[in-house]
Amino acid sequence: MSDPMNLELRRTGVTVRVPPESTALEALEDHGIAVDSMCRTGICGTCETTVLGAEFASAAIPASILSGPGRCTVRLCIAEPGPLTRLIIDL
Ligand code: FES
Repeated sequence: MSDPMNLELRRTGVTVRVPPESTALEALEDHGIAVDSMCRTGICGTCETTVLGAEFASAAIPASILSGPGRCTVRLCIAEPGPLTRLIIDL
């Protein structure tokens, strides 16, 4: 089992702990923070959010989680603890 991830919402000033087996989107919803979503499988891009910073448990960064030329983004519906230990987003 992986460690939880700290999800920091920079504009809101809130930090949400994302437990193992949960996604960032699910953890935000569990804390009453609404984020637009549709597919919830990482395909549509509705939940895509700008990343301001990230820390990883290892150097192996899955390209499917963080992407975007010139602007790093994350699809919150597929961002899970594991490789990510800390994520700072523009929310
Ligand atoms: S809800 Fe579709 S990519 Fe996240």
